[in-house]
Amino acid sequence: MAILVTGGAGYIGSHTCVQLLAEGHEIVVVDNLVNSKETAVKYIKGISGKDFNFYRGDLKNMDLVEEIFDKEKIDSVIHFAGYKAVGESVENPVMYYENNLITTINIINAMKKRNIRNFIFSSSATVYGNPATLPIREDAHLIAANPYGHTKLMIEQILKDLYASDHKWNITILRYFNPIGGHPTGLLADNPKGIPNNLMPYIIQVYQGKLKQVHVFGDDYPTIDGTGVRDYIHVIDLADGHAAALSKMKEPGVHIFNLGTGTGYSVLQLIKAFEKTNKCKIPYIIAPRRAGDIALCYADPSKAEIELGWKAKKTLEEMCKVVFI
Ligand code: NAD
Ligand code: WQD
Repeated sequence: MAILVTGGAGYIGSHTCVQLLAEGHEIVVVDNLVNSKETAVKYIKGISGKDFNFYRGDLKNMDLVEEIFDKEKIDSVIHFAGYKAVGESVENPVMYYENNLITTINIINAMKKRNIRNFIFSSSATVYGNPATLPIREDAHLIAANPYGHTKLMIEQILKDLYASDHKWNITILRYFNPIGGHPTGLLADNPKGIPNNLMPYIIQVYQGKLKQVHVFGDDYPTIDGTGVRDYIHVIDLADGHAAALSKMKEPGVHIFNLGTGTGYSVLQLIKAFEKTNKCKIPYIIAPRRAGDIALCYADPSKAEIELGWKAKKTLEEMCKVVFI
């Protein structure tokens, strides 16, 4: 039996595929490559030394979804596919609702039809909005600040309602904090199309000389040095969290876990750590705050440690290390 990995050519999905194959799982990958390249599939196969079926196509197309479930022996789904850029979601909200919701609903319907009920969903710390208390626990108040966040909250609600209607579902919702880093081979990384929105890909492009300097969005937040603090987590630790969640998928229910390290670093601390690790200078300027940003965001990851036996292990230095190929 195989795990269907949607969005498996993407940043987090590709690292998770490598992890799943290393643990001996069979996988099937589907991706329309809207934000990734087919070479990622080749690299996953090369790194793992294992083969699997890849479907290039759009999960909004129910015919394709049915075809995959008819052809493959799938018993679980890890659903990464979706759009993820906050700013773009504000500019084009309907596109976000359409892509993120319809892909999820199509997959759930195909699973339901075949009595497949193991589902892991990529949620985000964005569902906590501006948290009232830190570190953030899974039972914190949920609020979306933008259409992207709304899609995550809506899907979480759909999954909770689904379980309420049929107690055989085994649903895990993983709320990622800020994934950074890449595979040690340098083959898999966060390579967003266009100018990056997220801090780490931006720093890397400055390092590569593609961009002139980092714009640090605000230095007057109530934080250690005035710049925003986030819980950066190595993408391989994150991938490991999925494998842990999968191996604990025994009890039906809706199981929700933060995947973070529990430690927050400021923008300036991240830039300094990057400079030290890669022995370079990253020019930056202080720019106005970015609309919608919050001062502090970091997880209480203890539930995942207790229930999944999972804990992020990689250091900030490992997260910052850039490998060129
Ligand atoms: P990514 O864009 O690298 O990967 C998503 C993949 O889904 C891409 O390869 C894209 O081509 C594919 N895709 C999108 N729409 C599709 C469709 N309709 N049909 C088929 N494939 C489709 O993003 P990522 O960083 O790997 O994120 C994976 C998931 O994790 C997303 O759901 C994202 O919202 C969530 N998440 C990401 C972060 C982050 O900072 N990277 C944080 C929290 C949550
Ligand atoms: C981190 C810090 C910025 C860029 C976003 C999404 C969230 C999740 C992860 C998907 C902040 C500062 C950034 C730059 C900067 N994604 N910054 N200059 O905003 O915490 O989270 O990605 O679910 O939903 O909102 O991540 O990397 O954009 O920003 O100073 O050029 O870096 O202000 O303090 P964020 P980020």
